[in-house]
Amino acid sequence: MDLVEWWRTAVIYQIYPRSFADSDGDGVGDLPGITARLPHLADLGVDAVWLSPFYRSPMVDGGYDVADYRDVDPVFGTLADFDALLAEAHRLRLRVIVDIVPNHTSSSHPWFVSGLRDRYVFAPGRGDAPPNDWQSLFGGPAWTRMPDQSWYLHLFDPGQPDLNWDNPDVRDEFEDILRFWLDRGVDGFRVDVAHGLVKPDFSEISVFDQDGVHEIYRGWRKILDSYPGQRMAVAEVFDTEPARVARYVAADELHQAFNFDFLEAPWEPETLRRIIDASIAAAAQVGAPPTWVLSNHDRRRHVTRFGGGPAGQRRARAAALLMLGLPGSAYLYQGEELGLPEVLDLPAAARTDPQWLRSGGAELGRDGCRVPLPWEGDAPPFGFGPGGRSWLPMPPDWAGRTAAAQRADPDSMLNLYRAALRQRRPAAALTWLAAPDGVLRFETDGGLLVTANLGDSPHPLPARPLLASSPVDATLPPDTTVWLRAG
Ligand code: NOJ
Repeated sequence: MDLVEWWRTAVIYQIYPRSFADSDGDGVGDLPGITARLPHLADLGVDAVWLSPFYRSPMVDGGYDVADYRDVDPVFGTLADFDALLAEAHRLRLRVIVDIVPNHTSSSHPWFVSGLRDRYVFAPGRGDAPPNDWQSLFGGPAWTRMPDQSWYLHLFDPGQPDLNWDNPDVRDEFEDILRFWLDRGVDGFRVDVAHGLVKPDFSEISVFDQDGVHEIYRGWRKILDSYPGQRMAVAEVFDTEPARVARYVAADELHQAFNFDFLEAPWEPETLRRIIDASIAAAAQVGAPPTWVLSNHDRRRHVTRFGGGPAGQRRARAAALLMLGLPGSAYLYQGEELGLPEVLDLPAAARTDPQWLRSGGAELGRDGCRVPLPWEGDAPPFGFGPGGRSWLPMPPDWAGRTAAAQRADPDSMLNLYRAALRQRRPAAALTWLAAPDGVLRFETDGGLLVTANLGDSPHPLPARPLLASSPVDATLPPDTTVWLRAG
């Protein structure tokens, strides 16, 4: 398979701008903060960054409620700051992907404010009841009533009205927004809720993954292909089986889709192997690369999912080498290279996630994986910004987790990721090899032999590895992955 297109084997690092680095001391991360810290990512060895939204927004959903798709929110900086970030990233040979949020706008978007109802999904109620029983993914009904008694659809927060993609004005607008950012020089897009845009008949129970979405992405692909430099797009498609997800990455649609099955998998060899096989097979059917991801800004961080504490760290190290040894492309979420755990004890008053707010606190929500990054120093906010504060409180015991502390420690998570990204071998396919129970063993066409011990007992290790997630001797201990040269 042609491995020349950069995105087929890229490692892409997700930045959540509010929480990456703050340049002006207001406690919220911003674009100049990101620019100043790009050398960390160049040194880490990733190929690209994906920026979660930084557009004008009331921040009801951390910026996934966009009020102006062509401008930077003042809390993050200016368009000139964006241009400077992009130029510096490109100088450091990092590509930049931006988030596009086409399923819904903010309720503060001028279209919604000025009452352009045909661009949204409005419907009459059933008496006092909403038009149907669709539920918001943040809890409660997916419909909110306007003062004139009509209802509008919001699959997420009421501050995120769903757009009506049957309206050609909506289609034209988003094609124009794509061109706006492509003209500025971005390398691609991450498409939010890519499977949600087209709505079924209101009598349907299932809202997502309607066939009509594919025509939209065929149009987008033509736009991406009309620009030089291999521009790409990655689709967020969740709760959908691999064969359906593959339709979004057909040769005339988008380039990649996130692998939520892999992200959600337990640390368990049979399940992981099954998901790896299914993912590779589904992607191969349409000639797309498989992708891998362990964490993002919506899910509990994997150190914590894998048990937390030293056991969680150890498994996270083994999982990183497993993932980065697989063929295809991988996504890292900011802070996983520092082994950050989920922060589970945020005070209620600090929490902002609509998932938390709309569930009346029944769901902890996603703030715990969005705690700002610790860069250096001994006390919060650990160099996050010059103002001595951070929009979410940072655990006081993170001094050992800062990027500076880990750079100085050869055995740190950061140095494991750095070594892995240097020694990684781009690949398109794998072959499973015989292995004892609890062990996953495969060879890639990039020339890497990966052995991951997810079982309870050690196994003999025939040769000295290129890289090991934890110390090894003549045996491979439990919860450890090693890389060897294949053949
Ligand atoms: C998926 C995004 O990743 C998430 O953060 C957001 O809340 C929803 N889409 C709605 O935009």
